Amino acid sequence: MGCRGGGLAVAAVLVLAGAARAQMTLPDLPKPTGAELFKQQCQTCHTLKPSDPPRQGPLLLGIFGRKPGSVPGFHYSAGFAKADFVWDDSHLDAMLTNPQALIPGAVMPYRQKDPATRQAIIAFLRDQT
Ligand code: HEC
Repeated sequence: MGCRGGGLAVAAVLVLAGAARAQMTLPDLPKPTGAELFKQQCQTCHTLKPSDPPRQGPLLLGIFGRKPGSVPGFHYSAGFAKADFVWDDSHLDAMLTNPQALIPGAVMPYRQKDPATRQAIIAFLRDQT
């Protein structure tokens, strides 16, 4: 009895160890944060620091609540002057989905078809004030 019980206990430990190992080798990949996504997907063209040298796109600090095309000194394409809204969640979502559909002639070569990725970036931008 003692012997048989010991064998079962060893077997149980081995099964548990195997399960633990399987979990360790198959981790869930952590989702990138909005900050990381901004860095990967926007930062080559946009900065959040007024002191940075100009890039291909305008400064995005404080974008929420601002009128399109309102960064002083940035030369926007013509469609921006006709855009009659302020940047909010839904307009930023439309911009990141398809800039030219929102602002005809916009020269931003970026499209993001994944809604969760767009939302993570927009939530990050909301905090950059
Ligand atoms: C390859 C360069 C490039 C990338 C990448 C890019 N943009 Fe842009 N973006 C631009 C340019 C250029 C403009 C100005 C477009 C114009 O004048 O037609 C712009 C304009 C904008 C505007 C309008 C700003 C204003 O002042 O009205 C927003 C908002 C914006 N981009 C957000 C983003 C975000 C967020 C990302 C990343 C998910 C991104 N862009 C990625 C180049 C880029």
